[in-house]
Amino acid sequence: MTDTRYILAIDQGTTSSRAIVFDANGRSVAVAQQEFPQHFPNSGWVEHDPEDLWNTVVAVCREALSHVDIANVAAIGITNQRETTVVWDRKTGKAVYNAIVWQDRRTALVCHELKKHDPALEADVNNRSGLLIDPYFSATKVAWILDHVTGARARAEQGDLAFGTVDSFLLWRLTGGTSHATDATNAARTNLFNIRKNAWDDKLCDIFRVPKAMLPVVKDCAADFGMVDAALFGREIPVLGMAGDQQAAAFGQCCFEPGDIKSTYGTGCFVILNTGDEAVTSQHRLLTTVGYRLNGKTSYAIEGAIFVAGAAVQWLRDGLGIIKSAAESEGLAKSLDDNHGVYLVPAFTGLGAPYWDPDARGAIFGLTRDTGPREFVRAALESVCYQTFDLFEAMAADGVSPKAVRVDGGMVANDWLCQYLSDILEIPVQRPMVTETTALGAAYLAGLQAGIYHDLDHIAANWHLDAEFKSNLESRRRDHLLAGWKDAVKRVQTDPS
Ligand code: G3P
Repeated sequence: MTDTRYILAIDQGTTSSRAIVFDANGRSVAVAQQEFPQHFPNSGWVEHDPEDLWNTVVAVCREALSHVDIANVAAIGITNQRETTVVWDRKTGKAVYNAIVWQDRRTALVCHELKKHDPALEADVNNRSGLLIDPYFSATKVAWILDHVTGARARAEQGDLAFGTVDSFLLWRLTGGTSHATDATNAARTNLFNIRKNAWDDKLCDIFRVPKAMLPVVKDCAADFGMVDAALFGREIPVLGMAGDQQAAAFGQCCFEPGDIKSTYGTGCFVILNTGDEAVTSQHRLLTTVGYRLNGKTSYAIEGAIFVAGAAVQWLRDGLGIIKSAAESEGLAKSLDDNHGVYLVPAFTGLGAPYWDPDARGAIFGLTRDTGPREFVRAALESVCYQTFDLFEAMAADGVSPKAVRVDGGMVANDWLCQYLSDILEIPVQRPMVTETTALGAAYLAGLQAGIYHDLDHIAANWHLDAEFKSNLESRRRDHLLAGWKDAVKRVQTDPS
């Protein structure tokens, strides 16, 4: 008998909120999406209005649900932009400050000072949380809000204010303020969670000055997170799955075995490598994180995080106005036989892994009198591949050399990009039939808890290859291109030693 149940996945991302209804075979049956404004109140600052996040989520859920029989929607899964920080009043549910977005660099100085004051501190933080001391993660953002909103610190200490990443804030709102929870993958991005002990860490809370009274309960990724208020969608629906978007994408790509690896090209690019039961510490500034946690058992991962991938193409479109749509970029890049020596380093919000340089800024090199829009476009797309190479190079130095990589995210519809990525990485690049893997991963997690899927093998049977791109570039040419990239990166680093 066919299973007629549906799962609603909420994917609250950096630039848009999406809702996708999946059937039991992992096929998308209804999709809705809304963008919302980005706020840049100061140089290097990035904020979202939490009400925009909430309103767009409710609107896209209603729209997607209007296409199916809601009586068949068995569960909701939530996935989200990670690290982005919201602090709200438990009584009113109102945020006390805008959401400080993961890309925001306002706490760079705090991070520098922490490291300067105690040079051994970063290794201790890394051992506990798997992360580094960088403004990317939530902890310094929470402290910033507590220090800059009048009375907030005292109210947080008394337990009147709640902190959450976006998953947690949405859950609170969806459940009418009855559930203050998160999952282990989102908790693992705050710099307050001990990934080895699976608990909030007192020492990390002290270091980053975050009161424990404001932290959510941490659950498995497939768990009972609470019931959505019937007033919102016309009937109660349980939230049964949750994961940060990159971990959800790895789950949607069925990276269930140690050595499985995926790379997602959204606003940024995030590579996640499954390392199984072992929390492997990178010696080359990659992050150790929770891949997923099921039945209390953590599957760990190594992650490489690049802050700007699709955002570079968005900049070409919205900032420079040299393309009208992202889709145009493929034809323009392809129309050149070569990059003409032009390199873009899109360090618009500093450099992420493996450089971790929050003060670096973007630059373009190699301009000549005949440089035009096509070279800019090609340099932007190439930069996405070179940055991915940097992550794979760091992984190789850590002793891991994947044999192939699964890719997903909006940019991988671009065949030229997938081919160039394979040329630069020198391994096959595999694109699945469903590239909405982030939402799919959240749906799989909720479906596991709802009993729609029996186990991970049941889920893995849904993964199908769409296209495989194989490396086809002469090694000498590749080395030459990479040398040009490395030289360009050195020039934007604040401390290239
Ligand atoms: O760590 C930030 C990441 O979760 C954002 O993902 O898909 O909004 O680029 P995305």
